[in-house]
Amino acid sequence: MKLKKKIALIDQHNNLGMWGNKFGGNFVPETLKKPIEELEILFNKMRNNKKFIQERDNYFENWIGSPTRFIYLRNLTNHIGGAQIWAKVVSDANGGAHKIYNATVHCLLAKKAGKKFIIGDTGAGYAGKMLSMAAKKFGLKCKIFMGAKDIKRQQPNVKAMKRNGAEVVPVYTGSQTLVDAVSECMRFWVANCDTTAMCVGSTVGPNIFVKICGWSTSQISRELKHQINEEFGSIPKKLKLYNCVGGGSSSYGFWSEFMDYNKKQVEFIGVEAGGPKAGKKHAAPLTYGSKLGILHGAAQYVNQNIEGQIEETDSISAGLDYPGVSPLHCFLKDIKRARYTAASDEDALNAYKLVTKFENLKPSLEPSHAFSVAIKDAKELSKNTIIVVNSCGDAHKDKNILISKLGKKYDKFN
Ligand SMILES: Cc1ncc(COP(=O)(O)O)c(C=O)c1O
Repeated sequence: MKLKKKIALIDQHNNLGMWGNKFGGNFVPETLKKPIEELEILFNKMRNNKKFIQERDNYFENWIGSPTRFIYLRNLTNHIGGAQIWAKVVSDANGGAHKIYNATVHCLLAKKAGKKFIIGDTGAGYAGKMLSMAAKKFGLKCKIFMGAKDIKRQQPNVKAMKRNGAEVVPVYTGSQTLVDAVSECMRFWVANCDTTAMCVGSTVGPNIFVKICGWSTSQISRELKHQINEEFGSIPKKLKLYNCVGGGSSSYGFWSEFMDYNKKQVEFIGVEAGGPKAGKKHAAPLTYGSKLGILHGAAQYVNQNIEGQIEETDSISAGLDYPGVSPLHCFLKDIKRARYTAASDEDALNAYKLVTKFENLKPSLEPSHAFSVAIKDAKELSKNTIIVVNSCGDAHKDKNILISKLGKKYDKFN
């Protein structure tokens, strides 16, 4: 298995929709074959249509606010001593996270397909909030499926979805988190696909959803590559790109334009959720060697018991609290193009405290996982190494969790 040069990774699958002949595919009920095929035809037509690209870029620039900032975290760097730490502030994007790119493209496609309704899943609430924003913008009726546990812990985003006119459907099955929300959303789509478009909130699900999401979030690395070239004159000899990995959409989007570089020059570090330190549950299938299984229509490494039943996860971060991971990342792990590791709940909270103490940046709990590993690594590296962390979400949604974990000290770090 090898990475092909000059072809986007999202397109490097076989005719069964699988990457490395092993990950992804379309493990879907018969009823979804037709709507999936229709979406594939529409997407392939639109991505090669100049007018559509112009329309997309116009929304990215004038509505989402691209490009997002690329900033040097000088105070943090000086405090740590070692490699330079930079951030790509993707949380600058309209709504506060990268999920807006995928949501916008799905709504544009739904309009082209003549659909009036759009549904989606959400964990941290950002995918749902962004879909509700885009649906409102494009005049689509919107329904968001969200685990009951996540509804409780991500209230600011739930309120935003409702303000945007979306119906939030609580999911009470299983662990009442993202995995159950995606399942319920797909179940609804099976029965309503004639009238309704579905947006999967990450680079997971049947092949076409991985591709649309990856294609949309690639905007992040297109901007970053340009910004790095402007700042340093060329791509540095030692560049390390840190990103949290839940389903894997922000990380794929952050890395995609750098795929052809040698990993000694541009290294990719994916940080999964290790969960509570004392607990046995985690949401890190790549780090802890989970086995190949099928989840949400695709083959991937997934937390499962010996009978193949999906195992419950645990993480302070609702956006990373998912037992599976994108087939794109399974492939990148197998070919050793990316390195995957995990940060615990405690590590993420400590990183949040450190970043907010030294910088005017408030990464949500998801990117705080990536900051934790970047900060540890930076200490051991020299000044000519450039570390960039994708600060892909704003911590406003985590306010209640941060107050409960940090108590009165929260104000100090806010
Ligand atoms: C801010 C933020 N970062 C990261 C993630 C993880 O998802 P992904 O790996 O698809 O980027 C989420 C998911 O909700 C999120 O809201």
